Amino acid sequence: MERTFLMIKPDGVQRNLIGEVIKRLENKGFTLVGLKLMSVSQELAEKHYDVHKERPFFGSLVDFIISSPVVAMVWEGEGVVASARKIIGATDPLSAEPGTIRGDYGVSIGRNLIHGSDAIETAQREISLWFKEEELCHWQTTI
Ligand code: CMP
Repeated sequence: MERTFLMIKPDGVQRNLIGEVIKRLENKGFTLVGLKLMSVSQELAEKHYDVHKERPFFGSLVDFIISSPVVAMVWEGEGVVASARKIIGATDPLSAEPGTIRGDYGVSIGRNLIHGSDAIETAQREISLWFKEEELCHWQTTI
């Protein structure tokens, strides 16, 4: 089954949006298979955002991610990578559609509340970076 990695960033945690984010993914019908509140090391933040290491905002992005706790999650379901990206909305919250998480709650590209994997291969890389296999639950609804 397809999986994606989502991270509620420090701004999302500090603005009490953990429940709101989880509710939106649950309501859609996806299954939460991994969840942890954690402080992020500089090494993990730099590895996670490695693709952006030449960009001018890389240093401030890493500093922000390690500044206070984040919520790391793995969600499972048919088409979850693309669907979660739609639920999250465009990278710049000012361009994100109303009804999306960033469109409803954000105003700044540097404080866009949540990260979501952009492709299936990226999701696999990010899940293995953030979670050990034994931290993930294999389960299905039975009710
Ligand atoms: P995210 O989905 O986590 O992936 C990369 C992040 O870089 C992105 O969300 C933004 O938070 C951040 N980002 C992208 N472009 C800029 C920018 N121009 N200035 C600051 N941060 C940016």
